[in-house]
Amino acid sequence: MSDFMLLTADGLQRVEKLLFKTLQGTQEEENVNAMCMHVVRAGGKRLRPRLTLLSAAALLHDQDGKFSDAVERLAAAVELLHTASLIHDDVIDKASLRRGCSTLNETDGNHAAVLAGDYMFTRCFVLLHALNCMPLFDSMAQTVSALVTGELDQLKRQGDLSVSEQDYCRTVYCKTGALFELACSGSAILFKRSDDEIEAMKKYGRLLGQGFQVADDLLDYQGRSDSTGKDVGEDLADGRITLPLIFALRDLCGKERADLEDAAKSGDFLRVRKTLDEIGALKKTQEFALQSAKEAAASLEILPKSPYRDALCEIALKAARRSA
Ligand code: FPP
Ligand code: MG
Repeated sequence: MSDFMLLTADGLQRVEKLLFKTLQGTQEEENVNAMCMHVVRAGGKRLRPRLTLLSAAALLHDQDGKFSDAVERLAAAVELLHTASLIHDDVIDKASLRRGCSTLNETDGNHAAVLAGDYMFTRCFVLLHALNCMPLFDSMAQTVSALVTGELDQLKRQGDLSVSEQDYCRTVYCKTGALFELACSGSAILFKRSDDEIEAMKKYGRLLGQGFQVADDLLDYQGRSDSTGKDVGEDLADGRITLPLIFALRDLCGKERADLEDAAKSGDFLRVRKTLDEIGALKKTQEFALQSAKEAAASLEILPKSPYRDALCEIALKAARRSA
């Protein structure tokens, strides 16, 4: 097990207990609870709550566990918000597989899935409420606005082959970076740390999120569904123009570019992937993800050296290089 998994193992166990407890509502809510439990039980890497635990430990030197209840609550809230957004995302993307399990839209239909996502979203606020911290509420509200804006931007640009690297990065910040930013800076906000520390943790989260999403988009071209737990080729099939294709279109001209545009428009995944590979766009995308991870790690230099800070650096690099 890597260091970051070991360092967060106990805390995460308590976060998981809290997640399940939070989803146990009243008898009338039995149906929707069961749907939400199904998704939360499917697991996943629990990367965001682990980041919340590690960021808090790196910042607060919480040796006597003084802050742990509040931090675990925050970590569980972040995971619920993330999972709710994935339930909605799978409806939008018509995805049938997530974390190796059938999605709710597949098993229960779109309408029920949207409502279950809404329910999970409200449970996240139940957790936050007890923390009684308005600036955190404010950050959470901004994160949700960013998530929605990112998804809307993506929908608006569906099939648009003129999307620039800058447009792409903006969408990536909204749909992924903002939630990582909250996961990593939430404890700093909650415990009123200095503006410099809050900003450093936000920057770390933002850049980690960028590396993570770019790696995710690369896996959609290069990954295998038995290791990612998702179908490959979905981005192109749904008209999502991501960094590998943006780099390739930028580097090609004339007939070669027209051929790639044709292949992309007709959803010819194998032909597009072959071209991206041949002209080095996949490699360039991997380098971009790694560069984001290195910048994320550099922003943590403001924190004292500790195993927790090292683990945060390790996560950023692993997220950018992952194969699942
Ligand atoms: C995954 O992207 C999607 C997101 C990271 C965010 C989705 C956000 C929403 C649908 C808004 C949610 C709003 C509320 C109120 C909860 P992806 O499709 O690129 O990644 P994937 O391959 O994991 O599906
Ligand atoms: Mg999706």
